[in-house]
Amino acid sequence: MKKYLITGCAGFIGSNFVHYMLKKYPEILLVNLDKLTYAGNPQNIAGLPQSQVELVQGDICDAALLERIVPGHDSIVHFAAESHNDNSIANPEPFITTNVEGTFHLLEAARKHDVRFHHISTDEVYGDLALDDPCKFTESTPYKPSSPYSASKAASDQLVRAWVRTYGLRATISNCSNNYGPKQHPEKLIPKIVSNALAGKEIPIYGDGKNVRDWLYVLDHCKAIDLIFHRGRSGETYNVGGHNERPNIFIVKTIIEQLHDRLKDDGISEELIKHVADRLGHDRRYGIDPTKIKNDLGWYPETPFEKGIVLTIDWYLDHEEWMEHITSGNYQKYYEEMYKNK
Ligand code: NAD
Ligand code: TYD
Repeated sequence: MKKYLITGCAGFIGSNFVHYMLKKYPEILLVNLDKLTYAGNPQNIAGLPQSQVELVQGDICDAALLERIVPGHDSIVHFAAESHNDNSIANPEPFITTNVEGTFHLLEAARKHDVRFHHISTDEVYGDLALDDPCKFTESTPYKPSSPYSASKAASDQLVRAWVRTYGLRATISNCSNNYGPKQHPEKLIPKIVSNALAGKEIPIYGDGKNVRDWLYVLDHCKAIDLIFHRGRSGETYNVGGHNERPNIFIVKTIIEQLHDRLKDDGISEELIKHVADRLGHDRRYGIDPTKIKNDLGWYPETPFEKGIVLTIDWYLDHEEWMEHITSGNYQKYYEEMYKNK
């Protein structure tokens, strides 16, 4: 039976990936490693079969822990990171620690124990595009990160490349665009719009709202990762995008309209939108050219935005309790519940 170590399994994309993998490969064994920071939510991975899934609460910066748990794995799929730009602007230090040093410790463990490594990264390493730029990011676009978050991810990507070249580590990298879907922390744009609209709170839009992101449905991203680490060539990078560039203001208006129509609540209207001061160093536009992954691995983003956003809104409407726990910031009892026997 194949055995995978998944880091950051209790976060947004990691937890979606764990569920995806268990459904697709009923025979696999997973060791899920997560520090359970404010962003890690044990509810996201609750109820998984204990015979197949082991949960380890721990830090990827803890080399001794990695030395204990890494041996015997076929692959490491590395999601764990500090992931929110605004937090990185307010306090960059944890981003350097987890994203750079943590990746270094994982690479060292993977090298020592000859474990295949897949690194999840972001299109933000490429910096930004002008709104009218005809180009998109390809795998050969030079790195030009803007924020402490994107700089830390860029550094981690370069570490992976160095470990491939110098030590012959078997590794791949994927750089994806903005994901959306179930279980995303409401510090990020789409769940924040839903959460604030449902609570009748203002929805803050940074600057003029014309910044563009290339939205990718999380399940499509999980399928891409599965393909890359099973069939991708070691040493290669693959860009994963949604073919779906949209200005922020379009996203907000779409969600408001959907919620208004669905809930018949006149309190949910565009009057909730509040233009606020722009994010420092705010990237104008991200846009991915996913030609390589299409040609090499046959992947394309299957979920049109119109479908993905309905699935996403439905999930948040069906999981208001989940949202309430996150926004209350109190998950301690879940940690204790999940890990009491560990
Ligand atoms: P997230 O913030 O939802 O989850 C991150 C997870 O990592 C959490 O469960 C957290 O507890 C865990 N973690 C943080 N520090 C840790 C540490 N030191 N040791 C162990 N675990 C730790 O993030 P996400 O949105 O699921 O992103 C996952 C990965 O995908 C990240 O590497 C991120 O850079 C990348 N990415 C995300 C997006 C996006 O749109 N969400 C886009 C591009 C790339
Ligand atoms: P975010 O979800 O934080 O992802 P990223 O910074 O990785 O792109 O933000 C997406 C876009 O939405 C980005 O242009 C910033 C903007 N934004 C707002 O306008 N208001 C908000 O409250 C947030 C969180 C983001």
